[in-house]
Amino acid sequence: MSLDKNLDLFWWVAAESHELQNKPLARKILDKDIVLFRGEDGHPVALKDQCIHRGAALSSGTIQKGQLTCPYHGWRYNQSGDVTWIPSEGRAPKGRRCQREYQAIEQDGFVYVRFSQKKTNAQPFPMPHYKDKGYSSIRLQNLFEAELLNCVENFIDIPHTTFVHPNIFRNESGCETKTKITKRTGHVHIEYFNENSDFGWFSWFLNPKKIPVVHTDEYFGPNITTVNYYVEKGHFIITSQSVPIDEDHTLVYTDLTYNYGIWNYFCRPIVRSQSQKVIDQDVIILKNQHQTLKRNPMRFQNSDCDLIHLAVDQTYHELVDPKNAPTNEEKVTECSFWI
Ligand code: FES
Ligand SMILES: [Fe+2]
Repeated sequence: MSLDKNLDLFWWVAAESHELQNKPLARKILDKDIVLFRGEDGHPVALKDQCIHRGAALSSGTIQKGQLTCPYHGWRYNQSGDVTWIPSEGRAPKGRRCQREYQAIEQDGFVYVRFSQKKTNAQPFPMPHYKDKGYSSIRLQNLFEAELLNCVENFIDIPHTTFVHPNIFRNESGCETKTKITKRTGHVHIEYFNENSDFGWFSWFLNPKKIPVVHTDEYFGPNITTVNYYVEKGHFIITSQSVPIDEDHTLVYTDLTYNYGIWNYFCRPIVRSQSQKVIDQDVIILKNQHQTLKRNPMRFQNSDCDLIHLAVDQTYHELVDPKNAPTNEEKVTECSFWI
């Protein structure tokens, strides 16, 4: 499966802000090689990662005063991608010479890029409760050998948790869970009722008294999911931004954001390590799925709870395929399944 063309209309996380210091950064997003650096004004810049002179990778170059110098013959580029100096000529070029520049902005500790020049209302996603009072965040990056949609599906899929993450995240209970799925344009909201309150290892943190939890998941197309747990006064959110590198790889930025009062500080290392353990298990099962599907492509069969994934799939295709214009109407469905 090749990448959907219209994905270049959206904003994609290209790096965490702290990764962009005084060296150029090479990244691949949507199969495009880009170089990131900070311009003279400190704002992030994204250019095609190739010198227009003889094609060397600009990301192997150096930065001086917000300008990027090619490692081969030293052509120098400013933050608009214009060549400002050609050493062998001892001057700036006559007339404009430039490398392709992409849109780049910084928000909530992320550097975002957008490839299309077409006008759009799409904005970078505001990370929930980022730096809000009382909230702490842990940010993780993980490379999956998997397609974007299969990553998204996994992050809001409950039935796999008892099989892939037993004891750590959820234990099988035989309980029926009712689910309400609300699909809107570019967005799916999933509400769970009478969910099993045993979260395995995470129970001590998420729900020590094993009281009923409020759990909602959301999909913000094309690539973002949030998982929200409210227990008494505590709130735990997992936000995943899945960024396609190429048709076989997706880099996932995960924010674990929580408000657990005095626990916020003490639980940080253990929440980080246990969450990473859960993600490592997903990396393995998604690689298994991806490699098997590559060898044997197939149509998926569905169970009742896969209505969630069908709503996500439809929403995604409405966004990236111009032939599937969104209907703009709200659609609510309900289902139940056993955990
Ligand atoms: S290849 Fe970049 S300056 Fe020659
Ligand atoms: Fe998982």
